[in-house]
Amino acid sequence: MIEIKVKAGHAHKQRDDAVVLPLLDNRKLTQSGTALQQETGKTLPSFLKKHDCTGEFGKSRTLYDVAGTFTQRVLLLGAGEEKKLTLHKLRILAATVARKLDSGGARDISLFLSELHVRNASLFDKVQAITEGVLLGLYRFDKYQQNKDKTNRRLRSVTIMVTSRRDLKQAESAVTRAQAIALGTNFARDLANEPGNVCTPEYLGRQAAALSHPQLHVTVMDKHEIQTAGLNALLAVNQGSAKEPRFIVLEYQGGTEGDAAVALVGKGLTFDAGGISIKPGHLMEEMKFDMCGSAAVLGIFKAATEMDLSINLLGVIPSTENLLGASAYKPGDIIRGYKKDISIEIQNTDAEGRIILSDALAYAAERNPAEIIDFATLTGACVIALGAQASGLMGTDEKLKKRLKESGDETYDRVWELPMYEEYQEQIKSDIADIRNIGGREAGTITAACFLSRFVGDIPWAHLDIAGTAWNMKGTDLSAKGATGAGVRLVLNYLINKVNRPK
Ligand code: BES
Ligand code: ZN
Ligand code: ZN
Repeated sequence: MIEIKVKAGHAHKQRDDAVVLPLLDNRKLTQSGTALQQETGKTLPSFLKKHDCTGEFGKSRTLYDVAGTFTQRVLLLGAGEEKKLTLHKLRILAATVARKLDSGGARDISLFLSELHVRNASLFDKVQAITEGVLLGLYRFDKYQQNKDKTNRRLRSVTIMVTSRRDLKQAESAVTRAQAIALGTNFARDLANEPGNVCTPEYLGRQAAALSHPQLHVTVMDKHEIQTAGLNALLAVNQGSAKEPRFIVLEYQGGTEGDAAVALVGKGLTFDAGGISIKPGHLMEEMKFDMCGSAAVLGIFKAATEMDLSINLLGVIPSTENLLGASAYKPGDIIRGYKKDISIEIQNTDAEGRIILSDALAYAAERNPAEIIDFATLTGACVIALGAQASGLMGTDEKLKKRLKESGDETYDRVWELPMYEEYQEQIKSDIADIRNIGGREAGTITAACFLSRFVGDIPWAHLDIAGTAWNMKGTDLSAKGATGAGVRLVLNYLINKVNRPK
């Protein structure tokens, strides 16, 4: 990963390839820009007027060889109206400028963005946001393209400038925090962007087992062990695939011994063709992303271990493909999973996520965690309801849901709640078994959650449907085309807040 440094100093003295100064609306410079202007003979104001640099958000202008400076170029980055700035806008500014200078051939750059005033934000928050923006914004998945852009990629270090030496310590710890968060998010993106022929259940198991920390224990069950454990719902979905399933259990004891863990459960469908209820061909290739829930869980473990987060975590990942082999499970089949007292009628083999999650949730609940949060690309209906801007949030615990919503607003990894009224449970009643795996056309995201709710017992539970947010084929401000890492920053920030909250 690219190096991030913090430093206190003046803009005109920096020797980096580029110095980035914010420009507010109406051509107002901030502190460091004003200082640079005084040092360099006031060339900036006339330049700004002549060249119509208004400071509009996201627009930038590069000045080369400004007299009195030691840098090749001064980049004036439009930050818009200071009153309207948010931490997320800061992330976007950092991501935009890092991408621009990276492809422009700069190696070392310094950013004077932390002096921007953001309402209710500390210096720590701002430096964290800037670092996240840089590291998330620069992410690319180009390992399968030999020559793509590689020659243009030069960025080696980014120095985040602060106004006073007294701020260095706080800024450094913000960078460390953000680096761990970005590491986890980009790890999740890497896993999910791998194609289905590489990222198989076995591959996910190996990636999980490769996570290393003295307090982390990872168990990867193979098909035989899954059979012995009685994880029969996972096995049912796996019947149509030639590849073995995996059931991954991660235990991280970063907190007090004996404290109940937070359980994180993630759907790990490495390719979802729909099974016998086969999907249409259009965009079916995107179903390699059907393991983004498991990628989010692994990304969170990666970051939590990286920052030695003081909390106990339990991770549970059921993983298989959903294909159409000769022994594939069929519509009409009735199965009993790990929770044997509930019989499930399969009416559509494409509603497989809830099937494998039923085993994982029941398994997690049996271990009495403090709460369960699951991540799943569960329903196309959620894409229709919320699009790419928010993950669907459902669950049984008001406090947990409220805190996830708050975390979503803080991280901009946003969630929106859908109701789980008792009446919706009617829709998954079966004529021949206890429940069926589809609930009809109406409220598809909610009835999927109703199905899951049958397997969590009375453990406080929240469900995140990330079907619309987990990947984005247009790309977003912070994410290249492909997997976004949705859910990672959301839940990491939730966990960090939980650790820091007085008991
Ligand atoms: N993995 C899909 C959900 C999905 C679809 C996510 C499109 C992202 C984009 C899931 O396994 C599925 O196929 N769900 C069905 C359920 C239906 C048969 C009740 C769906 O949403 O169509
Ligand atoms: Zn499906
Ligand atoms: Zn699926």
